[in-house]
Amino acid sequence: MSNTPLNVGLVGGGKGAFIVHPHQKAIHFDGTRRVVAGALFPDPKIALEEAAKWPYPIRGYASYDEMIAANATLPAEQKLDYILIVTPNFVHFDPAMKAMKAGIAVFCEKPLCLNLKEANELLKTSRKLNVPFAVAHTYLGHWTTRLARYIVQSGLLGEVRWVDSYYVQGWLATKLEATGQQQATWRVDPKKAGGSGCGGDIGTHALMQLRYVTGLEISELSAQLETFVEGRQLDDHFTVYCRLSNGGRALVRASQICIGSKNDLGIAVAGTKGSLRWSQESPESLTICLPNQPDRVYWRGAVTPGDGFLPKDMPTDLMAEPTIPAGHPEAFHDAFARLHRCFEADVRRWKAGEKFACDGSKYANVEDGWTGLAFIETAVKSAAANGKWTKFPKL
Ligand SMILES: NC(=O)c1ccc[n+]([C@@H]2O[C@H](COP(=O)([O-])OP(=O)(O)OC[C@H]3O[C@@H](n4cnc5c(N)ncnc54)[C@H](O)[C@@H]3O)[C@@H](O)[C@H]2O)c1
Repeated sequence: MSNTPLNVGLVGGGKGAFIVHPHQKAIHFDGTRRVVAGALFPDPKIALEEAAKWPYPIRGYASYDEMIAANATLPAEQKLDYILIVTPNFVHFDPAMKAMKAGIAVFCEKPLCLNLKEANELLKTSRKLNVPFAVAHTYLGHWTTRLARYIVQSGLLGEVRWVDSYYVQGWLATKLEATGQQQATWRVDPKKAGGSGCGGDIGTHALMQLRYVTGLEISELSAQLETFVEGRQLDDHFTVYCRLSNGGRALVRASQICIGSKNDLGIAVAGTKGSLRWSQESPESLTICLPNQPDRVYWRGAVTPGDGFLPKDMPTDLMAEPTIPAGHPEAFHDAFARLHRCFEADVRRWKAGEKFACDGSKYANVEDGWTGLAFIETAVKSAAANGKWTKFPKL
């Protein structure tokens, strides 16, 4: 396999942007990927100025249309290998679609797009063109999330009865958007954010954590979408009670009005034999509770197979993955890097004409992105009918 770094083009990321920065660090984490180009801002002149100011040299484009068109006709080995879409939700669909059609793989921020209609189109096109497609559900990238998935899905906790999956923040407890704060302003605008504010922004992360760890799907839901800050059009508090595909129950909840809560995303799973707890604000360990035993705390990098709970033959790829010893903390950027690393492997296989996975086991894919939009739309519908139990659409 070639050791030439993969070339990445950015869509968005200029002038005070947020999430591009963790991504661009994660892209450079291993030396096998690099950012080489960008269409960083909607205004063409500012887009070029921002690219010229980027901390290392990149090729600036006046628009993502121009960047994608310039690459569309290049031979495969000269093309951008993937684009990273870090624009507000209403600017996900168009560049993702155009990139796939130009033969460029796509790593897109969540939620996948603005509504289920767009998600259907993206899903159809990615299947037809067979292009690798990742959706940036960051918290799947923590090693402990992977361990949690292994523990739950190999049945070590028995049958899943109950899941509490949550993401609680406090930064929108006041009308921050009235101050012009960049990240708040578009997130409260339905034309730019989509049908749900808090649910689309962070409820989709809680949903993805539930689905990735348990492997279960939602069959029906009953939702309440609430807006506490006066004059805001979209929900800032989002509570969804779910019936799961195995007959279990779950609460997927998110809030942005809980003063003091920062990025309190976590999951608690209760099975017939034991329970699991994990929180992204202390992502280096998870806790297992078994009946009549002291709680077990498992740390990344310090797990012993065959310890009386974990089996001897744990998956080698899972056990080989942590790269630094326990106690040297991994966190948010490492999680992003793990997602880009796994996506890189698929992009390299695809470019070599080999079969690639993109199956949702290492990072969220376009099917997961579709499910996020189906979740938002079903929750909005249920909430409008005062929490009526509403069937979840099938993929
Ligand atoms: N995975 C996560 O943990 C996570 C965290 C935060 C945000 N996000 C998602 O990332 C996306 C961006 O969020 P953010 O908080 O970084 O927003 P932001 O407002 O900080 O940045 C958006 C960027 O997109 C640019 N942009 C807008 N329209 C454009 C266009 N037509 N062409 C080129 N650039 C354009 C803006 O100029 C800005 O640089 C959203 O979809 C959000 O939901 C994900």
